[in-house]
Amino acid sequence: MNEKSTKYTFLAMILHWLIAILVIVNWRATEAAEHASKADGEKIMGNHFAFGVIILVLALAHLVVRFTSSRPPLASTLKPWEAMLARVTHVLLGLLVILLPLMGWTAMSLYGQPIDVFSVFTLPALPLSPDKDMAKSIFEAHGVVGSILVYLMFLHIAGTLKHTLLDRDGNLFRMLPFGKAKG
Ligand code: HEM
Ligand code: HEM
Repeated sequence: MNEKSTKYTFLAMILHWLIAILVIVNWRATEAAEHASKADGEKIMGNHFAFGVIILVLALAHLVVRFTSSRPPLASTLKPWEAMLARVTHVLLGLLVILLPLMGWTAMSLYGQPIDVFSVFTLPALPLSPDKDMAKSIFEAHGVVGSILVYLMFLHIAGTLKHTLLDRDGNLFRMLPFGKAKG
């Protein structure tokens, strides 16, 4: 098997790592906001909203790249149940990074609020009639889905570490432009 077919494209790698970093930042931001003063908490959550919008843009770009450019097949070193689990986890991760900001955007719109993205641009509110109760419920559900994403991310990291460190199949390097991965 040649080296190329064990690696994702450079663009897929860039998008993957940007999304991964921003998801971790956004998750930690919610924890920080919980322990901050009211004013600081609001500022931190403002950043959480703005990063959420950026994640949405990157995740949509990732979706386009996923369906338009070639992808390496999952490593043949994976047992059938591992390949199945990896596939399900990848699909869920890819969907949740789109669903979470959409839930946030919808809830903000039900409050009649646009989302300011670092004073660079403003995502307008969707044309929905205001409904604070519905907005609250969506944010609550968003919190639950956000936690599910964090658990899935840890499962995903555990899989990568298990394959890279224990099975020594170079799994991590499939997502990096250097290093060798087994086919
Ligand atoms: C929440 C953050 C993350 C998301 C949403 C995410 C999402 C994904 C998705 C959807 C894939 C499938 C490939 C694709 O469609 O482009 C993938 C592959 C991969 N991810 Fe992540 N990922 C995240 C964090 C991480 C982290 C922190 C690591 C480091 C341990 C990592 C390592 C990998 C590796 C090595 C692959 C290639 C797996 C293979 O094909 O065998 N990911 N990721
Ligand atoms: C992919 C992007 C996003 C991720 C990964 C994410 C993730 C999370 C996580 C992990 C939590 C904390 C859950 C908990 O511990 O209870 C949370 C809470 C929250 N997020 Fe996001 N979020 C994203 C986008 C957004 C956007 C775009 C908005 C608003 C426009 C938003 C608004 C909120 C609010 C208000 C909470 C507090 C909800 C509550 O617990 O009642 N998020 N988010």
